[in-house]
Amino acid sequence: MSIFTRRNEVAAPSENVPSRRKFLFSALSAGVGAGLAAQACAQDAAPASAPADLPAPPGRILLSASENPARVQRVAWRAHGPLDTPAAQLIPMTASPISGEGAQTVPASHRPFEPVPGMTEHSYTAAFTGLEPDTAYLYRVGNEGNWSAWNELRTAPEKPEKFRFLYMGDPQNDLRAQWSRTIRRAFRQVPDARFLLLAGDLVNHGFNDDQWDELTDAMGFIPASMPVLPTPGNHDTKRAEGVETPEHPYTASPTYHAHFCLPENGPAGVDCLKGEAYYADYMGVRIVSFNSNIFTDARPRKQSHREVWDALLAWIEEVLANNPNRWTVVTHHHPVYSGSARRDNKAMRDLLRPIYEKHGVDLVLQGHDHCYCRTLKTADDKVVAADAPGVVYVVSVSGPKMYDMDPKFKALMADTMLSRTQLFHTIEVDGDSLVFDSHDTSGRRVDGFRLDKNASGASTMKETFKA
Ligand SMILES: [Fe+2]
Ligand SMILES: [Fe+2]
Repeated sequence: MSIFTRRNEVAAPSENVPSRRKFLFSALSAGVGAGLAAQACAQDAAPASAPADLPAPPGRILLSASENPARVQRVAWRAHGPLDTPAAQLIPMTASPISGEGAQTVPASHRPFEPVPGMTEHSYTAAFTGLEPDTAYLYRVGNEGNWSAWNELRTAPEKPEKFRFLYMGDPQNDLRAQWSRTIRRAFRQVPDARFLLLAGDLVNHGFNDDQWDELTDAMGFIPASMPVLPTPGNHDTKRAEGVETPEHPYTASPTYHAHFCLPENGPAGVDCLKGEAYYADYMGVRIVSFNSNIFTDARPRKQSHREVWDALLAWIEEVLANNPNRWTVVTHHHPVYSGSARRDNKAMRDLLRPIYEKHGVDLVLQGHDHCYCRTLKTADDKVVAADAPGVVYVVSVSGPKMYDMDPKFKALMADTMLSRTQLFHTIEVDGDSLVFDSHDTSGRRVDGFRLDKNASGASTMKETFKA
């Protein structure tokens, strides 16, 4: 049983129907400190009422990618809410035992939601703002008498420095039993990764709370100190039986959103893409994440869908065109160049490839095809010279579900193409160099390349390793 499993929950009757949970909670008031500029994460705040019984520790504590990682850090968590005066507390890093006195207290937003009809779940979010760059802190979440452990967070330096982050394709299936080893191996191998990028299909059924329980159980304490930068996959959009089809069915489920508090710098006025299209600038790298579900077919006929399509496309152009960073990394779920059988996202490729080439995107990180392949430097659907303008695309998988490889884009691909292999990837950025390495879940390095930029921003690609 997961450490996050509620003490009074009942077993799930099937994979598709999450168990009905009933939460009772103890809640006392938490003081609100002064000094640190802090605010509740401004999303869907709702008043909390306070039934009192059976305190249990907060769980599923996840830091989210931040639009300003040197100064702002948001955290989301789950509790057996609704809680009275939910909050997060922050102190400077210390090696001494902690009393909690003098901690800065940030009131939290309560976000109730219905994963399935008639079932209410509760998530909480808080934002630490006004943080010092390149500084370690300790924080905890919950409320008085029912706090989490003190977790570590670390802000980014204000000026670019060498750093690494992790990238993984679809976790999706058998999360507790089999995906767990990928994330744990990655953490053992790269404990200093600044964030974890997940390229969609985080779970198999986006609404299914038991699968989110598995996912967060597999990650354990890792996302409480390593921010997660997710993008929605097609499986993350699935709704429970009996739920009315939403106006925008290609958007992620409420359960997906309950786990994150992401930058709200997506297309202005497009509420359905909140937390599903955003960017984060991290030490010289702009990372653009968006929901690609809407782009996998022709331009929609429905007016409201067309408006989202147009707004998302315009936003992508805008954030790529106005990027002050040295590097540009894009992540979305569906591959521009598919690696598995019976798949080809031609409409999306024809739409996005010219935009990526026009704006000098360096790297596109994707999932969905449950195999591993990555291109050489490409432009106009062809391999180009290592020092010519072009884009590198990667497809990967971290969970145990696998598809057969399909060689239709083999002419664009590097030699190493893997099926039936769970993987994670490290991307190390150091000023003018970006080094990409692929590792299987046993920890073995299986593929690698690097990009080096000159003074004018042009890059040269070099293959560095193949299995
Ligand atoms: Fe998928
Ligand atoms: Fe998938």
